[in-house]
This record gives sequence, structure tokens and C-alpha cells, in this order.
Amino acid sequence: MSKSFYITTPIYYVNDVPHIGHAYTTIAADVMARYKKLCGQKVFFLTGTDEHGQKIERTAREAGKEPIELADEVVVRFADLWKVLNISNDDFIRTTEQRHKVSVNKIFKTIQDKGDIYLGEYEGWYDVRDEAYITDTQYEEFMEMPEAKRPIIERVKEKSYFFKLSEYQDRLLEHYRNHPEFIRPDNRRNEVISFVEGGLRDLSISRTTFSWGIPIESDTEHVIYVWFDALTNYITAVGYPNDKEMMNEYWPADFHFVGKDILRFHTVYWPAFLMSAGLELPKTVFAHGWWTIEGEKMSKSLGNVIDPYRIADEFGVDVFRYFLLREIPFGQDGDFSKDSVIGRINGDLANGLGNLVSRSLGMVEKYFDGQVPEALQAASIDEKVINKSSETLNQYVGFMDEVAFSKALFSIWEFITYVNKYIDDTAPWSLAKKGQTDRLAAILYNCCESIRIISILISPFMPQTAADIWAKLGLDTDIVSNGVESAKEWGLLNSKSKVAKGSNLFSRY
Ligand code: MSP
Repeated sequence: MSKSFYITTPIYYVNDVPHIGHAYTTIAADVMARYKKLCGQKVFFLTGTDEHGQKIERTAREAGKEPIELADEVVVRFADLWKVLNISNDDFIRTTEQRHKVSVNKIFKTIQDKGDIYLGEYEGWYDVRDEAYITDTQYEEFMEMPEAKRPIIERVKEKSYFFKLSEYQDRLLEHYRNHPEFIRPDNRRNEVISFVEGGLRDLSISRTTFSWGIPIESDTEHVIYVWFDALTNYITAVGYPNDKEMMNEYWPADFHFVGKDILRFHTVYWPAFLMSAGLELPKTVFAHGWWTIEGEKMSKSLGNVIDPYRIADEFGVDVFRYFLLREIPFGQDGDFSKDSVIGRINGDLANGLGNLVSRSLGMVEKYFDGQVPEALQAASIDEKVINKSSETLNQYVGFMDEVAFSKALFSIWEFITYVNKYIDDTAPWSLAKKGQTDRLAAILYNCCESIRIISILISPFMPQTAADIWAKLGLDTDIVSNGVESAKEWGLLNSKSKVAKGSNLFSRY
């Protein structure tokens, strides 16, 4: 078996409750984690919360709370949401945990001992919302924006430790060149390359004008810059610095899934810190796009923030998961609207998958007393279904390995449409009327077998629906332990299996 697979989401700020953007990255990472498990790999899937920094401190104070009180409240909203959305994370890290403080100080000291950190003074602009230092040019650009849309930019002048980022320009560029898979998709890689080619300035990695952060052990007047702190979560959770065995098993990460807005932190700062600390770099940082809401940017002031709890409650968890990954290619921007969710439910889900399952199992109940019949009398049209199934499987594996979720779903749905058409073309009801039972049996066996394969393929995306279909087919094994391999082989469905059509998988709107 190949090496273990390690995938992460960004850790989310606790200044605000979760919205669709947070749900999107986490669901996408969950799909990948579940897919890798289905392929038989040992998986470690991490998510968590980013709890330090000026933004959190300020939000807490404004609400008359201690920062840790705010964090303790909001973290529950995230952890609960992941349960509701059926997220299979193996760990949930909070940056306020002791294990993380140890880890951050260790990597800081390692980099310092290497000679890459010096004490100086930072004078310049700071964007509190993004917790980012910004240049004079960026500042001027922000000032041209209408006031309501402008981020809070502050002038900062304080003693600070600096990381010698400027010395890593060539090594970073060389890494991007030698590892094109490090930044995906390609257009994002080009953006990062031109940014780094433009020259890198040393990075301030500590703050002295507020205290909500991890103090530097050797100079407690400073708290460590929140992005230095946050990025380190990815190694803390796999045992850095004390659990060497776990680090060996999972580090370097296979994927950091992030939104396009935080790509620079992950592909410039983070690899430079790791290089300096003598640690390996993650294999791939994959940046996804942003959701707009009915054509508008999502924002509190517009009042159009999408609450994932509500969508999941209104339409169902698996519908929400399916929609997010089917609607836009992973990596591109897209638009969310209830109408498009309903369009997917009525079309792909109810008319496509739901209909295939209910009509196939309904006929097995009607004509064979609910027992999957034996495929007695084959015909050439059946071969086409079998070929289509293996073609679908190959496409699916290829697309999943490329992180092309919507294409993978598209190929499953082509197969669903194909099998629905096979039923229309062979008209089992008229074979039943004519008493051609052997032929009828073969067709219904093929339908059930197709459904078995489809449920394996959709299981990373729609785990509950896949399990429901599995149960309807009378199967009592675990889909994941059967694995993607068992979708490659046609005919594994036992013809004695007892099906139960039950209620519809999806209701129409
Ligand atoms: N705390 C940092 C990440 C640190 S990782 C070491 C952070 N947190 S966040 O809560 O602000 O955002 C987390 C993620 O949500 C980002 O990946 C961001 O791209 C994503 N999204 C926020 N709004 C979004 C949309 N409207 N659409 C899609 N994703 C969006 O950044």
C-alpha cells in the first residue's frame, strides 16, 4: 500500500460563525479524504480553528468578552457544523492548545538558531481583517475603494522580529519550477511566481502592541505573528516536534486545500519557514475559487451571508455537498442561488439518480418479489452497459486524482443517464407482460449492479445517500471497506440479495 495520505483545510478564524465558504473547503477536503480511504489509503484529515491575533482580540473586546471566551463559543459552531455536514476529520486543532504553543515556539527557535530571524522595527500598514502587512501601493489602492468596502488598515510602528524572507526568493522560485504540482491550479501558480519574481521583503513575525497570541519564549514582550502561528498548525497536528513517528508517517502533507485569497501565505511564507526549519514542503497547495451569492459578493453588510446549517436543513446535507462540488469546477469562482440548488435536485438528483434507484428496485419488488434475479439471458445491449461502467470508473479515478470533482460527478451522472436510457430502451415492463422472464431478470440484475457501482462512486460526495442505497440493495457490508476496487469488477452483486425500494431518495421542489 502507498504512503499515508494527509490533507488539511485552512483553520478558520473564530471572530465569526461559519458560512458557505468555510463549508466549501471543508466539504471538498472531506470528499478527497473519503476518496483516498476508498482507494485503501491510510488517511489523516485535519481541520480546526485559528484563534489568536488582533482581529479576534478586538472582536472579543467589542463584545465585552475575553478572546478565549469568544473562541470557546465560536469553536462549537464549527465543530458542530462538521458533524452535521458529515465531515470525517481525524483531528480538530485549536491554536490555543498547549501542543500548538510548544510546536510554534519550537519552529520559531529552530529558525532563529539557523540565523534567519533578527530583531528590528516594523513601520508600515497592517490590514487587521486579513491579518496581513501591506505595502504603500496596496494601501493607496485600498484608499480608492468606497469607504464601506475598505478593510481596516492601520499604521503600525513597533519592535518586531523579522524573518529573512528576502533570502528565500531564489529557492522558492526553484521549488515552483521543479515541482509544478506544488501550486494548483496552474493560473494560480503563475500569479505566485510573478509575485515572488517581483522581489520579497523580510517579514515581520512578531507583534508588541497587543497580547493575544503565543509569546516568544525567549522574549515574552512579543507575541508571534498570527500567520506564523496559524500555518504551523499543519505540523503540530501530526506530532511536531515530539512525535517523530507520526511526523514520519504523515508529513509532508499531500494537500493543503485553501481559498485563493490565502494562497500567498501558503505558498510563499509557509514553504520559506519550512525550508529554514529544515522540514519538507507540502506536496500540493490547491487554491479554490470564491462563491458569490446570486451574483453579489457575500458580505454581512449586504445581508446575504449563506448559513450552511440552514441550507443543509432545508435541502439535506448530501444535496448541499453534491451541489457545491458539482456546480463549479474546483479552482474556479461560482455563484450560489437557491434556484440553482433546486435545479440540481429536480434534475440530477430526483430525475437522475433517485429515479434510477426507485424504478429499478420497484421492478425487482414487483416482478421478483424483491430478490435480485440472476442475469440469465444476456444480450449485446447489456455489454454496452458493462463497458460504460468500466469507462466511467476509469474516468472517475482519473478526475478524482486530478482534483476535478465536478468532472468526476459529471461522468457518474453520464452513467446514470445511460442506465436510465437502457431501462427505457429495453422496456422491462413489456418483457414482463410477454412473460420473457429470463431476459427481464438479466436487465434488472444489470440495473441493480450498476446502482451498486454508482453508490460506491458517489460515496465520497454523498456518504449518507450511498449508505442508504447500499441498504436498499440489501447489502450489509461497509462501502468503504469494499473500496473502489469492488466497483471495477462487474457482477459482484449477489443475485440472492433482498432489495427494499422504500421511500424516494430525493424529493422534488
Ligand atoms: N485563519 C485563516 C486561515 C489560516 S490557515 C493556516 C483564514 N480564515 S477564514 O476563516 O477567514 O477563511 C477561511 C477560508 O474560507 C479561506 O480559505 C477562504 O478562502 C474561505 N472563504 C471565505 N469566503 C469565501 C467565499 N465566499 N467562497 C469560498 N470560500 C471563501 O483565512
